Amino acid sequence: MTKTDIVVLAAGKGTRMRSQIPKVLHRLAGKPMLTHVLDAAAGIADAQKIVVTGHGADIVRASYSEAAFTMVEQTEQLGTGHAVTCALGELRAGAKVVILYGDVPLITPATISNMLAAVDEKHIALLTIELSDPSGYGRIIRDSEGHIEAIVEQKDASPEQLDIPEVNTGVMALTTELLASWLPQIDNQNAQGEYYLTDLIAIARGAGYSVNSVQPNSASEVEGINSRQQLAALERVYQLQLATKLMASGTSLADPARFDQRGSLSAGTDNFIDVNCLFEGTVTIGSNVTIGPNCQISDSQIGDGVEIKANTVIEQSTIGDHAVLGPFARIRPGTQLGSHTKVGNFVETKKAIVGNGSKINHLSYVGDAELGENVNVGAGTITCNYDGVNKHKTHIGDNSFVGSNSTLIAPVSIGQDGFVAAGSTISSEVPLGHLAVGRAKQRNIPGWKRPTKNN
Ligand code: UD1
Ligand code: CA
Repeated sequence: MTKTDIVVLAAGKGTRMRSQIPKVLHRLAGKPMLTHVLDAAAGIADAQKIVVTGHGADIVRASYSEAAFTMVEQTEQLGTGHAVTCALGELRAGAKVVILYGDVPLITPATISNMLAAVDEKHIALLTIELSDPSGYGRIIRDSEGHIEAIVEQKDASPEQLDIPEVNTGVMALTTELLASWLPQIDNQNAQGEYYLTDLIAIARGAGYSVNSVQPNSASEVEGINSRQQLAALERVYQLQLATKLMASGTSLADPARFDQRGSLSAGTDNFIDVNCLFEGTVTIGSNVTIGPNCQISDSQIGDGVEIKANTVIEQSTIGDHAVLGPFARIRPGTQLGSHTKVGNFVETKKAIVGNGSKINHLSYVGDAELGENVNVGAGTITCNYDGVNKHKTHIGDNSFVGSNSTLIAPVSIGQDGFVAAGSTISSEVPLGHLAVGRAKQRNIPGWKRPTKNN
């Protein structure tokens, strides 16, 4: 038996979120909770994913590609047992079925695999955990030999049972055939008038089957989210796990509690990341990189030995080895900085290819531009790339010098070794090795008298 069908329950309303957005689409580490669960399911070979939706079903469906999962709709939320019954028609004969929850986002492929290994034609698997405070959860009742007998919900439990620290996480696994034969036996004769999936345990025991229990590696794997407060708390737990992984791989963090990763981050060794940095999308960092406080880096590649100073923002860009950026640099999409480049404070770049050793140190905008090697762009230089309708390119050749406060009106090019005098407005080509002076000539007026104050 190698087929696996993973059923994700996601029909609940999530009243306590107080939101127009379905609960399972609320984000943890930048990714919807349901996507976390689907990604964990994707770690299992030949797994079919079935999501049971109800409240906000259309919004959930529209948020994913058709291929992401099979959706079944539970139009009325009659309980977890009823929700799984809605998915029965999609289950494959001979498959092992795992029940997961869209609002329990941190389940791991390893735990799902352990659940599958604990299932066969004679055994069902239940994920349980011991909690120091088990209140609110269904307690696991075991017989004298330690076999699981039943799950007793909090309100039905005796004082002795309330002391049991082992609880039901809700995650269960069993074959399609057993599920199909037992689900119809569940009734709704209970306090909430719901069809409880947990009743399967007693049904299985009554039919002479036994229950194997599996434990997660960490309590966070089975933490369910009902409110924004719980979501924020789990976010910090998860971020600490990501920070710990990063440190274990050879990057130092000034404070692992002030680190945020929303996506994938791979890094070499001997990097240092100061407080309050945010990494989004797919980011790769070389080795010996220093990142100052309050930086935001999205979908970018950072080379070796790069120094990123405080408050720098980098999006969809490539930063060459030993570049120095910031503080307060804004590197917009399509920027490619060569090695040993410098982009200093209050500089904005966009679709800018900057050759090795070139410097844009202060207060400039360089967009839709190609700079050769060892170019020096003075403070306050602006590439005027936009004429109100179209974007145009600026080319600056190797070893050129652009004086401070120059305005380069694209399309325009400055030849190799070109020199632009400070304060110039450049609207036509500067040939190789030329000095361009594009400014009004200075006049000095001798004997000029300052105005005097009236009355
Ligand atoms: C469930 C378990 C309880 C366990 C707890 C762990 C049952 C009856 N009880 O309780 O033993 O300790 O999880 O967190 O299973 N859902 C649907 N359709 C429905 C009802 C629920 O899709 O008709 C989904 C909800 O969206 C939610 C999940 O199933 O994501 C759990 O349902 P909920 O009613 O909250 O069960 P719990 O009270 O948490
Ligand atoms: Ca609940």
